[in-house]
Amino acid sequence: MKKIMLVFGTRPEAIKMCPLVKELKSRSQVETVVCVTGQHREMLQQVLDAFEVTPDYNLAVMHQGQTLFEVTERVMEGLRPVIEKEKPDVVLVHGDTTTTFAAALTCFYMNVPVGHVEAGLRTYDISAPYPEEFNREAVGILAKYNFAPTVNARANLIKEGKNPDTIWVTGNTAIDALGTTVVGDFSHPDLDWAEGSRLVILTAHRRENWGEPLYSIFRGIRRVVEEFPDVKVLYPVHLNPLVRKAAEDTLSGCDRIRITEPIDVMAFHNFLARSYMILTDSGGIQEEAPSLGKPVLVLREVTERPEGVAAGTLRIVGTDEENIYRAFKALLTDEELYDAMSNAENPYGDGFASKRIADILIKGKTNI
Ligand code: UD1
Ligand code: UDP
Repeated sequence: MKKIMLVFGTRPEAIKMCPLVKELKSRSQVETVVCVTGQHREMLQQVLDAFEVTPDYNLAVMHQGQTLFEVTERVMEGLRPVIEKEKPDVVLVHGDTTTTFAAALTCFYMNVPVGHVEAGLRTYDISAPYPEEFNREAVGILAKYNFAPTVNARANLIKEGKNPDTIWVTGNTAIDALGTTVVGDFSHPDLDWAEGSRLVILTAHRRENWGEPLYSIFRGIRRVVEEFPDVKVLYPVHLNPLVRKAAEDTLSGCDRIRITEPIDVMAFHNFLARSYMILTDSGGIQEEAPSLGKPVLVLREVTERPEGVAAGTLRIVGTDEENIYRAFKALLTDEELYDAMSNAENPYGDGFASKRIADILIKGKTNI
């Protein structure tokens, strides 16, 4: 029987790979092996628990303040014996993290075919997002199977000279995940806290925003919150100590800004669904928000998700304090703008991306 191995290691990869793990495990034609790198620890475990996925291997590479060198080295060293033992027919990696790049490179060195889930996202700016743009372009060079979430992602790969027969447009598995997490009846103490206010969800963690850009983002947001007594901001802070320090330095002491630990994905998706709007530099949230009809101010200079911008849900505002102040205030005061951004269509798929990927691998032209 053919063997498919999935390798992932951070929160967002897990959220988008767990639906695929479940789909593949439901297919009797293949054996499915899950190897997590543990690039994230607590934030990864939260997702594995939520989706009830138990990995076959955990490389447990994370340590506090890890560098890109360390993650790359540890993933490669840890994965090599697992691949030697399991001899998978294909390894699936996701997106653009260091886990993704290091796992794909390991497979390349070991002559194991790679399938890239969420292939073809590009900014064509190697410094933003950093190092993710490099990671996904590099994986694009060696991947044998490319599962592109949108036609735009497919077009990027074709423009780069990829054989069209190796590319499939599947939708994004993020939408598959949302289909299982958001429920009609949901309560939580953080939602009780926000009752009667406009709830704004904030997340920020990007490497290129560390330092002054994060401080600038937070100052802009705080100024608006202090002007609008009916607005409350919930910010589940990434576990990176640098991010936590910036958040505490700039946002603490305002009783309408609640800083929390990372929130489990079931609750978090239900918070997004009940929010007024979202402020984020996250990649995954840019895909989820259009599906939930929530306006997003993207706290980055560029995005690899132009479909959400074209659909009207996403607006790129960068990291400049004044820009963020103005754009955030506009969404609180301009009803027409708010309605236009919240009525947008979801361009990221119908919730069946995992099923398509499994069909392609098992019954399609991949011949694994
Ligand atoms: C990584 C990815 C990024 C992705 C993000 C999702 C790379 C280079 N970056 O960035 O693309 O958007 O994950 O969140 O692959 N930490 C913990 N516990 C955890 C997770 C993180 O303590 O469960 C702390 C550690 O101190 C760690 C630091 O956060 O050193 C940074 O984690 P790391 O995976 O290196 O980078 P991210 O910024 O999370
Ligand atoms: N998310 C979550 N809990 C949180 C914050 C985010 O479950 O407290 C989810 C979010 O819905 C999205 C994913 O985590 O699916 C995004 O992860 P992150 O922002 O860490 O990474 P990125 O998408 O930027 O790579």
